[in-house]
Amino acid sequence: MSTTAPHRPATRSVGQAVTQSVGQRILRSRVLAALTTPHGVDRYLEMVNPMWAAEEVRARVVSVVRENPRSDGTAAVATITLQPTSTWRGHRAGQYVQVGLDLPGSAKRMTRCFTVSSAASVPGEQITLTVRAHDEGQVSKHLVAAEPGLVLHLSQAQGEFTLDESPATPTNNHLLFITGGSGITPAMSMVRTLLRDGYDGGAGRKVTFLHYARSPEDQIFADELAEIAAADNDVTVLLRHGDHVFSEFELRRLVPAYRTTDTWACGPAGLMELVAAAYDESPKLRTEFFKAPRTTPGNAEGDVSFTRSGSVLAEAANSGATLLEQAEALGLKPEFGCRMGICFSCTTRKTEGTVRNVLSGTTSSLPDEDIQICVSAPEGGCAVEL
Ligand code: FES
Repeated sequence: MSTTAPHRPATRSVGQAVTQSVGQRILRSRVLAALTTPHGVDRYLEMVNPMWAAEEVRARVVSVVRENPRSDGTAAVATITLQPTSTWRGHRAGQYVQVGLDLPGSAKRMTRCFTVSSAASVPGEQITLTVRAHDEGQVSKHLVAAEPGLVLHLSQAQGEFTLDESPATPTNNHLLFITGGSGITPAMSMVRTLLRDGYDGGAGRKVTFLHYARSPEDQIFADELAEIAAADNDVTVLLRHGDHVFSEFELRRLVPAYRTTDTWACGPAGLMELVAAAYDESPKLRTEFFKAPRTTPGNAEGDVSFTRSGSVLAEAANSGATLLEQAEALGLKPEFGCRMGICFSCTTRKTEGTVRNVLSGTTSSLPDEDIQICVSAPEGGCAVEL
């Protein structure tokens, strides 16, 4: 089953917009903020109606479409349509949001990042997230099984892996998308945006969409991709399944000038490494991982200690893994979101020692600095305040 069609902007009358903007100004006023300290206006609004907010963004699940459902109706992937609160500022195609969920039995709100799969949105519009349930992913599993009416906490849209080309900023460039697995979602948002906004052939405009999936059964958005491929729109959709892996030879045959073609690539680390090698540092390639890239372990010397308010929570010999992995191996449960250095949910204070960013390779020995523990591995002894 394919995903829902790209949504259209919700329409609001001028009167509604003015009333809403006056209401928002009152809700954000300093007087009201002072009156509602220390909880803030949003805590009180949420108690009255979870879809009322002055600053925070929340969203109600409007519908859930399970992709490629099994015979019992469950699925590994679902596309969830969300109606955000009026505080949502819209998104650019390719951006992601952090989704916060208060799961039953969990004292802490859990936050994870998901790419918006619908076309670029403006304030007031519905958006879709296409989520794959991971075995260890409590949030993703909860979302894939969600029912309409569930209210989520959202961040504003984030990320710079975005599409700038549109009919409004005319370009005759050939655009190329190379994706694998769940990495298809930002590219779908971009292609949906281009098609919705009229970037369909003419003036030499062309789009090539090359996607790799494990099997036809794992192919999400299959019906919609088939429709796009069949339409007269100068979008070429090329789906590769099974053992058919990315090769520079094939890419050169498909798009001879690929190194000078604006390209967006997103997928698992193995695919991304092959694509990066084929582009040989060409500035035309923009990349985003949907899983953390493979990293080399840090220098496994010294001890690592995790503290809170001056007391040691746990301490062990440094294994060389990231601080998040080492904390979890000790039974601690630090906050995290993306686990790949994007969302900053895991930011904590390092009080002692040197850490290496496993993505960039840079090291830092500054005392009392805030670090992302999901991508920081200690180089020798280290202390972190959780
Ligand atoms: S968990 Fe997202 S930056 Fe660390």
